[in-house]
Amino acid sequence: MRFEKLAAVVLAGLPLLAMAQQPATLTIDTARPVAAVSPTLYGLMTEEINYSYDGGLYAELVNNRTFQTNRGPGTTDWTILQNGDARATMAIDKTTGPSAALPLSLKLTVDTASPGSEAGIVNSGYWGIPVHPATQYHGSFYAKADSPNIGAVTVRIVDNNTGAAVGTATVPALSTEWKRYEYTLKTGAVAASSTNHLTLSVQHPGTAWFTLVSLFPPTYQNTPNGNRIDLMEKLAAMHPAFLRFPGGNYLEGDHINERYEWKKTIGSLVDRSTHPSPWNYHSSDGLGLLEFFEWCEDLHMQPLLAVYAGYSMRQEHVDAGPGLEPYVQDALDEIEYATGSTSTKWGAIRAKDGHPAPFHINYVEVGNEDWFDKSGSYSGRFAQFYKAIKAAYPDIQIIATAPVTGTRPDVIDDHFYRSAQQFFDDVHHYDKTDRNGPKIMVGEWATREGSPTTNMGAALGDAAWMTGMERNSDIIVLASYAPLLVNVNPGGMQWPSDLIGYDAIHSYGSPSYYAQAMFSTHLADHVLYAKLDTANPRLFDSVTSDSKTHHVIVKLVNGSSLPQAIKIQLSGASHVRSKATLTTLGAFTTEATNSITDPTRVVPVVSSTNAGTTFTHTVPRYSIQIIDLDLN
Ligand code: AHR
Repeated sequence: MRFEKLAAVVLAGLPLLAMAQQPATLTIDTARPVAAVSPTLYGLMTEEINYSYDGGLYAELVNNRTFQTNRGPGTTDWTILQNGDARATMAIDKTTGPSAALPLSLKLTVDTASPGSEAGIVNSGYWGIPVHPATQYHGSFYAKADSPNIGAVTVRIVDNNTGAAVGTATVPALSTEWKRYEYTLKTGAVAASSTNHLTLSVQHPGTAWFTLVSLFPPTYQNTPNGNRIDLMEKLAAMHPAFLRFPGGNYLEGDHINERYEWKKTIGSLVDRSTHPSPWNYHSSDGLGLLEFFEWCEDLHMQPLLAVYAGYSMRQEHVDAGPGLEPYVQDALDEIEYATGSTSTKWGAIRAKDGHPAPFHINYVEVGNEDWFDKSGSYSGRFAQFYKAIKAAYPDIQIIATAPVTGTRPDVIDDHFYRSAQQFFDDVHHYDKTDRNGPKIMVGEWATREGSPTTNMGAALGDAAWMTGMERNSDIIVLASYAPLLVNVNPGGMQWPSDLIGYDAIHSYGSPSYYAQAMFSTHLADHVLYAKLDTANPRLFDSVTSDSKTHHVIVKLVNGSSLPQAIKIQLSGASHVRSKATLTTLGAFTTEATNSITDPTRVVPVVSSTNAGTTFTHTVPRYSIQIIDLDLN
């Protein structure tokens, strides 16, 4: 039900005396800016969790394309195809592969096959292969055969329910040496669906080896090896100022040898060895370091690069000193890869990888959540990274992930995973923070209510917390919700309570997503003096002004089950337009939510409302509202 109908239902359902909170007053001095708003306040935090990239943003449709699982080589998501009286087997062959990075492959041994009785391999995709009508899919694989007699390889997308091929391509013959083959499939007038699989098959006996079997749908901005369009569009709609990557725990890994080794994620896909991840599935690294930077470029976000800092999650660490030096050098190389000119060693490699223009980096974070390191080694490790990075890049702001002694970080990263009530109770968290200390990044935060994606109650907790961050955004320079993405299929989620959900073909934003988007698309440049007098402990506000457009943005959050009347009084403005734009996200209950089958149950509604230098406005129960006042 849309929000306009809410008031009538509320009136019908509640006893008269309990119908509203006591009226509140919000006094705003439009001529009294009290703090600057950080223009980079709202960004994105991302890592490989919940099938965020593989099976998510990274548009690759073939699951386990290099035959690796988190537990080593394996054929998960692959099965054998034996049509008619064909006979064939498949097995991992650790003795042959197309590159040092991919030293193994899938060996297909075909004893019997003929036209009409084909043998081959089948991939089920990430919970299905999504198909759209009249669409081109580009694919490739590496293969070799024991002899040319095995003949052509036919690639098909097949409907699980009818067995019909909805797209077919043929690779005429295989070489006896490893080689890359490309193919293109085109669908006709089929219905959109995700109940499909991919087959690669032959019509003659013989042996063939395969790896890096790949299939891409159209991608965002048609980038080869690119990202899924619907998810990129949802992220773009949030107007994010920065992207914090590559983690999170994904940066650290469970063990030092499972950390995010960026050098293994660049260059041709055949030279990326892939790696195990702490979230219990193997990473293809198809979305590697350069692709993170290109993602930033596509969405006009600043890159916020987190570098591995010598600590992994099973309490493994490298002490500061000579042993840490290779890790520090690795971070310096990484920054040079991103920012160096083509005359630098790593800048030249970036150019060879396809991006000659350097990226600009303002922030580098050293590690992730190093307060978990019980050895107490972080102060020393941070100091060593800080000194080396500052010496080479004095303008880069360096972020510490935990309090340190002996060095003053430019920024400290705070994380908060909480209930809505905990956020309500702590909205003044940063009001008294020392303005002479390091700046703050709230690099991970979320109200953890609702699963797989959050509900309206969570959105209210989030919005209340955002009013506090916004009022303190002279010191909070960066903030990013986490986790960002979740594949909602069974087994897809490792962390309940996420922002954007999807399956192979559909995606949706949670109420928290819309709360984020509302706040970030209404970011002004100054916090105004504002005083909220209320008896409602679940009423929150943030009032900012945009000095360029002469608009005052009033953000109100009513986390109570009762409507809240507010007398809003503005001083310092000679004129306030009598109509204001009102954006509302609300629901009847805190449990109301969006889902893959009901994606737009809770969405913002834009309307117009009466305004002036003094006016009364009622914020419905369980709602987040933004009043955009025009002072021109
Ligand atoms: O956001 C999920 C995890 O929470 C992140 O990987 C980690 O940094 C935090 O503990």
